[in-house]
Amino acid sequence: MKTRITELFGIQHPIIQGGMHYVGFAELAAAVSDAGGLGIITALTQPTPERLAKEIARCREMTDKPFGVNLTFLPNFAAPPYAEYIQATIEGGVKAVETAGNNPQAYMAQLKSAGVKVIHKCTSVRHALKAEGIGCDAVSVDGFECGGHPGEDDVPNFILLPRAAEELRIPFVASGGMADGRSLVAALALGAEGMNMGTRFIATKEAPVHDNVKRAIVAASELDTRLVMRPLRNTERVLTNANVERLLAIEREKGASLTIDDLRAQVAGIYPRVMLDGEMDAGAWSCGMVAGLIHDIPSVKELIDRIMAEANTLIQKRLAGLIQ
Ligand SMILES: Cc1cc2nc3c(=O)[nH]c(=O)nc-3n(C[C@H](O)[C@H](O)[C@H](O)COP(=O)(O)O)c2cc1C
Repeated sequence: MKTRITELFGIQHPIIQGGMHYVGFAELAAAVSDAGGLGIITALTQPTPERLAKEIARCREMTDKPFGVNLTFLPNFAAPPYAEYIQATIEGGVKAVETAGNNPQAYMAQLKSAGVKVIHKCTSVRHALKAEGIGCDAVSVDGFECGGHPGEDDVPNFILLPRAAEELRIPFVASGGMADGRSLVAALALGAEGMNMGTRFIATKEAPVHDNVKRAIVAASELDTRLVMRPLRNTERVLTNANVERLLAIEREKGASLTIDDLRAQVAGIYPRVMLDGEMDAGAWSCGMVAGLIHDIPSVKELIDRIMAEANTLIQKRLAGLIQ
């Protein structure tokens, strides 16, 4: 399949693996890129720019295909040395960066002068247009269904994607709720030129996370996610568990007086406990509603090959067959 996204990133299939804290290590990024998609290393999971450089070098040893780096510009916390993370990315020869959170305007010159293609992930048409305006090469349009931070507008992809298609000139991928060949064909029909997946890629053999996490995603239904930190306007979609329900109870108890400090026990330092130690009730960790569509733990290559085969059959047989 050839789209403006496959052309932009020099990849075989229009499938991107979104940056994921404590999941987006070299093992997963290399597996996705090797299977013909665009794998992405999550920069801020690495404690320093030097460690990111090592992770990029490790990924380079595992695949000779292009891969990217995710840079998440966090709104609330002490700012990491972004320019140095970007420098490590550029020096590592990486040509694709997925930005998320705040827009990357302050770093565009540094990225573009090094020939890096920038895909900005955002949850609204206005932010997508802003990304286009500051010179991003593409956007990843993240609907309300998504795992992670869906923003505060709550517009699902059936509306958000065609709205993006109405307004944008740069290519975009559909993100949030994407799992299989049906998702890809639907995304293409709505105007996207590929798809970005998070949660689906966690339940794969190569994802370097504890088996408990993969099993929890397979066991979860589309009803098992919760929106946390909504009163702080930092909404995150997470998989429910005992501590997430406790967090929601605290939010209800505190009402308008809620601050992030009230939620520290449920949100701070949770990712390594969940992803590395398999402590599933530790607290809040991102997961999409798409968990309801995830029923197995294939290898990344099996998953991507299956998606592309299913998409081809859908387009060439089912859809073409409807035209009389
Ligand atoms: C466990 C997990 C961690 C994530 N961490 C990040 C992150 O650090 N930065 C980021 O930009 N997006 C992050 N995301 C969002 C994904 O990149 C992607 O946009 C999202 O998962 C898409 O929705 P889906 O899960 O329905 O596929 C995370 C998602 C998950 C499930």
